[in-house]
Amino acid sequence: MATKRSRRNEAESSLCTCLRRNPLVQSVIELEEIDSTNRVGKGLAAEGAPEGTLVVAKRQSKGKGRLGRSFFSPEGGIYMSMVLRPKIPAEKALLVTTCAAVAVARAIERVSNVTAGIKWVNDIFVNGRKVCGILAEAGLSAVSEYPDYVILGIGINVKKQSVPDELKDIVGCLEDTTEREILNEELIFAVWEEFEKFYGQLSTAVFMEEYKSRSILLGREVTVLAATGDYRAVVTDIDKDGHLVIKREDKSEILSSGEVSVRL
Ligand code: BTN
Repeated sequence: MATKRSRRNEAESSLCTCLRRNPLVQSVIELEEIDSTNRVGKGLAAEGAPEGTLVVAKRQSKGKGRLGRSFFSPEGGIYMSMVLRPKIPAEKALLVTTCAAVAVARAIERVSNVTAGIKWVNDIFVNGRKVCGILAEAGLSAVSEYPDYVILGIGINVKKQSVPDELKDIVGCLEDTTEREILNEELIFAVWEEFEKFYGQLSTAVFMEEYKSRSILLGREVTVLAATGDYRAVVTDIDKDGHLVIKREDKSEILSSGEVSVRL
């Protein structure tokens, strides 16, 4: 059986080699520190980088979250962004996020033996705490119904120091949820392996049933945080395009992720 040290050496020396065995991954850019891997990914995509260009950083000084928030990104977490050029209409680009959420949940379970749930639309939860955020940013095309590119950014809190003190009640790290030693490289490899299994069938959304079964919101009463004000509603479904279906004062509404976030 491999010792912890030999597992670590193997993982560190073989991240690039392993990732290149994944048919989706074309090249890997490994960085010590950067402001945001999504920003780098966007620049590369705009210059014509092919689908499958992956940027991985040990730290981010200006990690971006959804709805203009920041994402705390010290050493010990996983921060990575992939350039994608999906052949789906731009209005279905949310499927990239939902597909990635299922892939990350599966990958976490593979390396840590814990159960991972999904909080619509882009958060992965373990033991009631957020351990991962996903930010997919699309660059629209002037000539095609498909987006020019989608930058799929994934941030995972692995080690204790990746959780800011003031957020300890809502944000967790994988290290605290399992006895197993989690090697970041192993988890990175597992995420892209799981993502690649679904990505070719993105438009059919085969992963949506699993997304729903992992949802921690379905059937629950939530607070919807909208620009026009917060309100209570019950989550009744997640539709085939990844939109949240809620019931508010006996009327059904469909929420798109660009407009709102939801609190349990
Ligand atoms: C969220 O929780 O709102 C989404 C967080 C996404 C963070 C990742 S870390 C890698 C990539 N680069 C960024 O600047 N953001 C994403």
